[in-house]
Amino acid sequence: MNFATALQGLQDLEPTVEEFRDAVFRGLGNMPKTLPCKFFYDAQGSRLFDRICELPEYYPTRTECALLAARAEDIAACVGPQVELIEFGSGAGVKIRLLLAALIDPAAYVPVDISRDHLMLAAGTLARDFPDLRVAPVCADYSNPFALPHLPGLFPERRVGFFPGSTIGNFTPEEATDFLRGAARLLGPGSMMIVGVDLPKDPAILHAAYDDPAGVTAAFNLNLLRRINRELDADFDIGAFAHEARWNRPASRVEMHLISRTAQTVRVGGRRFDFRTGESIHTENSYKFGIDAFARLARAAGYAKVATWTDPAALFSVHVLEAVGPS
Ligand code: AVI
Repeated sequence: MNFATALQGLQDLEPTVEEFRDAVFRGLGNMPKTLPCKFFYDAQGSRLFDRICELPEYYPTRTECALLAARAEDIAACVGPQVELIEFGSGAGVKIRLLLAALIDPAAYVPVDISRDHLMLAAGTLARDFPDLRVAPVCADYSNPFALPHLPGLFPERRVGFFPGSTIGNFTPEEATDFLRGAARLLGPGSMMIVGVDLPKDPAILHAAYDDPAGVTAAFNLNLLRRINRELDADFDIGAFAHEARWNRPASRVEMHLISRTAQTVRVGGRRFDFRTGESIHTENSYKFGIDAFARLARAAGYAKVATWTDPAALFSVHVLEAVGPS
């Protein structure tokens, strides 16, 4: 197959500016104020996230990559040959290459991402590097239902979802269960999921990972306000907000907040939002699941555990699950 036939047309369901505005109005109208973390990933946010992944303090990416590389053959044996791979939140498309190197004759790859430009760039490079693989990008918010692209003449042995990076931890546990249930519906009976899950650990390690000394995570968090200014005709004074990362032990999650440094009023798309000094906008949760806690969540979503691996320092885990329906 040449590059032009390998890369199929884009299925485009990128969230509209109206959806973004409604979500921002809703979140800033909440008590306490919130903003959905899925809107971090405009072009600049995606670039900043790629830089976070390279920070020495941000252990999840390199640890998961090492684990995937070490276990790629085992994962390939679990899922079998000629699979259609669907990656939820494909980003720069680095981790999928570790799997593709080991999978036996994969049939197709469907990267799904909310950031269209980032998605098309990564899908194009991948299709060039794996000319025998059909690559069918879908721009969508995968936390909402969407349809898989129809690929004529494709008869995969099985569909396999890939959800790395512990992005599942950016959902609440209830949302994570719903997401896994929805993935089983989308991928069909007998499908499998490969899920990367960050483990609970020393809060000092977590704090450094989410509030790095170079300030990249702070820039990533504050970029959400810049994006609102750019796209929604708003006047956030970026310097009047501070990034904060908190470990919430009872909930087993790292929280990211933007703290108002002063009492202020911000205009967003014709509405006004008042802030007290020290008031927070809660922008992200990053839940950390122990092995048993995640196994319980997966079982509640209708999956049986096939295999689980962790790195030697027990920082991160990779799970292979099979959709078996309600127990
Ligand atoms: C994408 N997600 C899994 C990252 C995380 O660790 O929760 C997002 C992130 N937020 C701050 N740093 C990275």
